[in-house]
Amino acid sequence: MADPLAELDTLPDAGRIRSRRLNDGVATLIVDATGLADADRKVLEAEFHHAASGIAGVEEVRIALTASQQHRTLIAVGSGKGGVGKSTVAANLAVALAKSGKKVGLVDADVYGPSQPTLLGTDAKPTADNDRLNPVEAHGLKFLSLGQLVSPGHALAWRGPMATGALAKLVEADWGDAEVLVVDLPPGTGDVQLSLIQKSRPDGAVIVSTPQDLSLIDATRAIDLFRKMDVPVLGIIENMAGYICPHCGEGSDPFGSGGAEAAAAQIGVPFLGRLPLSAAIRSASDAGNPPALGDGPEAKAFTDLAARVIDALETVGR
Ligand SMILES: Nc1ncnc2c1ncn2[C@@H]1O[C@H](COP(=O)(O)OP(=O)(O)OP(=O)(O)O)[C@@H](O)[C@H]1O
Ligand SMILES: [Mg+2]
Repeated sequence: MADPLAELDTLPDAGRIRSRRLNDGVATLIVDATGLADADRKVLEAEFHHAASGIAGVEEVRIALTASQQHRTLIAVGSGKGGVGKSTVAANLAVALAKSGKKVGLVDADVYGPSQPTLLGTDAKPTADNDRLNPVEAHGLKFLSLGQLVSPGHALAWRGPMATGALAKLVEADWGDAEVLVVDLPPGTGDVQLSLIQKSRPDGAVIVSTPQDLSLIDATRAIDLFRKMDVPVLGIIENMAGYICPHCGEGSDPFGSGGAEAAAAQIGVPFLGRLPLSAAIRSASDAGNPPALGDGPEAKAFTDLAARVIDALETVGR
């Protein structure tokens, strides 16, 4: 006898049916929902429910949605010291990875001074389904920031469990088909960093440092933390490394030069490259236009950085 459930083969998502059975009026379907966000899973389920209910002989419909576990690579961007350009690097690394064709999410984990809404130029608020956040889209990536959850300029006086609980909500949001999550950490080696490392097990860490000694000492502290917790350090990036005067064209090194590369060699971690101190990077960032989006020398610097980060992930087997 023909299978009455064969009617389901005409549905647009029929290819997702993994198994079907009709027994005593009960239709049981196993449907593969891989790659779908929560809202789309519901639509898929409703589509099959509706179609199966209309088939003669079906009195009850049971649907099980399955999904092969999406592997998502988590990259933490950290530094020991504040103000060295982590957020700038995290935003533009995320944009450059997205430009290279990856599906990318960005988590602004800086509970004390979230800056991604400014860097990405949007103050859109995320929605939530069943207490799970839906990231906001900007410049070809998805992102979430604690800055979206509080009113602008409202200082976050969160400490300890409140801060780490809020961060977990961001990381465990509905990132859909994102393959890579870039996490912009607050400066230092405190609760937020520890909780992220323990709960989310980053696949690798990118350390941002300026070229001078003081910043490097702090970078070394951050590297120690990641190493102790078995998070592979993908490398150091030297930011604000040399300044070309826009008037006379002469180069100078306000924060010294080459310090991070020498330190990387000494500590035994890869050197991921250098980003110049550039008025164009600062003004584009302040205006919410990530400089990695363009095709000038700044964009190229971030594209190169993204390629080295991918290589470094491969080297550590992630
Ligand atoms: N290469 C660069 N050239 C010019 N300006 C830069 C560069 N990198 C960062 N900046 C600027 O320096 C400031 C600090 O950068 P950013 O906020 O990215 O640092 P951070 O390490 O995330 O700081 P915090 O520790 O406060 O989170 C910003 O105004 C940013 O635009
Ligand atoms: Mg920051």
